[in-house]
Amino acid sequence: MTTHHLDTRLLHIGAAEFDSETGTAPVSIPAIRTSTVRFKNLEVLDRALTKRAAGERVVTYGIAGLDTHRALEEVFMQLEGGSYCVLAPSGLSAISIAFLALLSTGDHMLVSDCVYGPVRTVDQTLLSRLGISVTYFSSQDQIAELVQPNTKMIYVESPGSLLFEMLDMPALSEIAQQHGLILATDNTWGSGYIYKPLTLGADVSIVAGTKYIAGHSDVMLGAIIVKDEKIAARIHATQYALGNSLSADDAWLSLRGVKTMAVRMAQHARNTREVSAFLDSRPEVVRIFDPAWHKDPGHALWQRDCTGANGMLSIELNCPALAAKPFVDALTLFGIGFSWGGFESLVQWVNPAVLANHAYWKGKDHALIRLHIGLESPSDLIEDLTQAFGKIQHN
Ligand SMILES: Cc1ncc(COP(=O)(O)O)c(C=O)c1O
Repeated sequence: MTTHHLDTRLLHIGAAEFDSETGTAPVSIPAIRTSTVRFKNLEVLDRALTKRAAGERVVTYGIAGLDTHRALEEVFMQLEGGSYCVLAPSGLSAISIAFLALLSTGDHMLVSDCVYGPVRTVDQTLLSRLGISVTYFSSQDQIAELVQPNTKMIYVESPGSLLFEMLDMPALSEIAQQHGLILATDNTWGSGYIYKPLTLGADVSIVAGTKYIAGHSDVMLGAIIVKDEKIAARIHATQYALGNSLSADDAWLSLRGVKTMAVRMAQHARNTREVSAFLDSRPEVVRIFDPAWHKDPGHALWQRDCTGANGMLSIELNCPALAAKPFVDALTLFGIGFSWGGFESLVQWVNPAVLANHAYWKGKDHALIRLHIGLESPSDLIEDLTQAFGKIQHN
């Protein structure tokens, strides 16, 4: 199986065993819901506990989930090229578990300024209260001088949230190794399918499966994937201590979603290319932010490190942020919403206050609009954008 193409493996992971009497099996793995498991006798329980103590994935209680969860863990490990996976009830929960597992009171963490916004809330509400300090950086060249004796981890996101700037993961990994730091990254954009940070030197990859893995805007899901056994043990222990658990139904929906990930991603990328070509021709659009777009400054790194594109891009408009609000309101096929990675197109009017945190933003008071290009016909999306551009307020 491991010699097959990833697309093939994603379809066959977790196939149910044949029934020993009927010789049949369902094509789709069922959602195995349980709050606990039963043991045939105490000897079987003892064996299970011994195996679990040795680090094997043995289920003695419902919290870690049974075969449905195991199959989803395998999906993430295959996607990311990792050896261990911990599932979480949301992407943000996965991020917080990783921080709590790998940092202690008195520790310091370096964080790229392009990370998913709510990470700053985790910093301000949780980490600061625990005595864990954070310094934000905008370029890898700053890291050496920002490292403190108590720095334990570098946390990044590539491409970055909102502006999709590509970071040089192998270079970051080298810096992290020089200073003895753990390198962790948010890989929701790549979701292991078009970008694999663990194979580029990262130690921890965190994915909001809520987006492209589940793919249908109907599930909250997070995953932490690692290669190193000791790091995995710390993350497992923290997840256990926090009592976080993913429902079997959400695991099942995610398994169903991932079966079409290959075709969805390819279609998102095709539609995005078409829409970007249109956007590039519009006088209102100053710049397209998407490393897969040939004019993006991160395109060379994208060509080197990524194997595909998705539906995410942002556009800088040649008008003030407030003047772009009627444009957003006028869109009919793009839902106004924060998420992405589902089948549908979405639009986000980016608050200038949020952009102030991103040194990569050079657009001053210009509007930034984030788009998720869904699976609708690109010609319909282009028509919708065309009529909405007419609504931009010009003074
Ligand atoms: C880059 C990124 N990481 C993490 C998350 C958090 O995922 P969730 O919504 O599942 O908590 C999001 C959500 O928008 C995201 O965009």
